[in-house]
Amino acid sequence: MSTQHEVPSYLTQKEIGPWGVYLEQIDRVTPYLGTLARWVETLKRPKRILVVDVPIERDDGSIAHFEGYRVQHNTSRGPGKGGVRFHQDVTLSEVMALSAWMTVKNAAVNVPYGGAKGGIRVDPKTLSIGELQRMTRRYTSEINIIIGPNKDIPAPDVNTNEQIMAWMMDTYSMNQGSTASGVVTGKPISLGGSLGRREATGRGVYVVGCEAAAKRGLDINGAKVAVQGFGNVGGIAARLFAEAGAKVVAVQDHISTIVSDSGIDVAALQAHVAQHGSVAGFSGGDTVNDRSRFWEVDCDILIPAALEQQITEANANKIRAKIILEGANGPTTPAADDILHDKGVLVVPDVIANAGGVTVSYFEWVQDFSSFFWTEDEINQRLTRIMREAFGAVWTLAQEKNVSLRTAAFIVACTRVLQAREMRGLYP
Ligand SMILES: NC(=O)c1ccc[n+]([C@@H]2O[C@H](COP(=O)([O-])OP(=O)(O)OC[C@H]3O[C@@H](n4cnc5c(N)ncnc54)[C@H](O)[C@@H]3O)[C@@H](O)[C@H]2O)c1
Repeated sequence: MSTQHEVPSYLTQKEIGPWGVYLEQIDRVTPYLGTLARWVETLKRPKRILVVDVPIERDDGSIAHFEGYRVQHNTSRGPGKGGVRFHQDVTLSEVMALSAWMTVKNAAVNVPYGGAKGGIRVDPKTLSIGELQRMTRRYTSEINIIIGPNKDIPAPDVNTNEQIMAWMMDTYSMNQGSTASGVVTGKPISLGGSLGRREATGRGVYVVGCEAAAKRGLDINGAKVAVQGFGNVGGIAARLFAEAGAKVVAVQDHISTIVSDSGIDVAALQAHVAQHGSVAGFSGGDTVNDRSRFWEVDCDILIPAALEQQITEANANKIRAKIILEGANGPTTPAADDILHDKGVLVVPDVIANAGGVTVSYFEWVQDFSSFFWTEDEINQRLTRIMREAFGAVWTLAQEKNVSLRTAAFIVACTRVLQAREMRGLYP
C-alpha cells in the first residue's frame, strides 16, 4: 500500500510522521465504509489547529519560549477530548495523529466525544516546579479560547499528571471567573477527580488483555509479560497482570531495560521508580545494555506503553509474543502490523486497548456535571463492562469481515463518526 498521501501545506512529506501512519490506517478502513466513504476526507483533515507560543520567566531571570499545540481533530459526536503531552519530541504531526486516534477511540468505545490532543515541545525534567507551573498556566491561557467543559476537555498524557490538571483547571477557572471542574479530567480527587481514573488506562489494558488471552486459550496465571514504558499505563498494567499471577519478565523505560526469567517484583520496581525516576539501577533483575533486545524477549504478552512507532519493520519479525496489547498510542506502524499478522500475533489496537483512560475520564466529566460521585467499585465495574463489550464487538466484526482487530475497530468507530457527520449535514 502506498504511503504517499496528500499532505497539508503546514506539513512536508518528510514531516508526515505519525500523521502518515494514521492516514494509512484510514486508507485501510475506507473500503469497508460503504456509502459513508464519501465523507472520509473529513477524517483526513483536523477540524482546528492552534499553535501557541508559551513564554515563561525562568528561575534565573532569563526568558524561555516553548511551542505549544492543541488540535481538535473532529467534533461530530461531541466536544473534543484528549490528553496533553509534555515531551521534547512533540511535533504538530504527532499531536494531529494523537488527536485523530482520540476521535477513533472515543467512537470505538462509544463515549460521546470527538477527538483532540495537545502538547508542549519541552523536556519537563529540565524545569523547576515553579517553571513547570508557569509554563502549564501560560499554555492553558493561550488555548483557553478553544477549550471548555462543553468544547474540548484535556487530560493527562506522557509527562503530565494530576497536579498539571489541577493547574490547568485553576487557570481556566480564574479566566472564567468561576470554578469549572469539568474543563479537564484526570484531576486530583479533592478537585472533582474520579476514583479509579489514575489506574483506568492500565486497568483497561489488563481487562482487554484477559479477553484476548481467553480467545487465544492463554492462561494469565503463569503467562510471561513484557512492558515498554513503566509510567501511568505500563506500570499499572504490569501490576494488575502480576497480581493475576502473570510473570513480568522484561520492563523497558526511557533509560534502561530490566529482564528477569523468574519475574520482576512489580511493586518493588514501582517503589524504585518513584524514588529514582527510572527503572535504571533496579537490583531485582538483569540490566540489558542493547535496548533493541527488549523486542526479542521470550514472552506471551507484549505491552508497548511508551511512545509511537516503536514496533516497526526493523523489529516486528523478532517479536515472540502471542498477543500485543497497545497501551501506548500508535506504537505499531502499518508495515509492522502486516508482519505481525502474517506471524499470527494477535494485536489489540490502541483505540480499544488503552480506551480505559478516556472511559473513566468520561465518568469523571459526568460526575463533575452532576456533582454526584460514584464509588470505585461502581467505576471499575462500568469500566470493565464497556471494555469487554467494545472488545467483543470488534472481535466479532473482525471474524465476520476477516480483518485485523485494528481495521475492525476503525470500521466500528469511523462508521459512528461519519454517520454523525452525515446526519448533522454540512454547515451552512
Ligand atoms: N495516561 C493515560 O491515561 C493514557 C491514556 C491512553 C493512552 N496513553 C498512552 O500511553 C503511553 C504512555 O503514557 P503514560 O501516561 O503512561 O505516560 P508516563 O509519562 O506516565 O510514562 C511514560 C513511560 O514511557 C517511558 N518512555 C519514554 N520514552 C521512552 C522510550 N523512548 N523508550 C522506552 N520507554 C520510554 C518513560 O520512561 C515512562 O516510563 C502514551 O503513548 C500515551 O499517549 C496514556
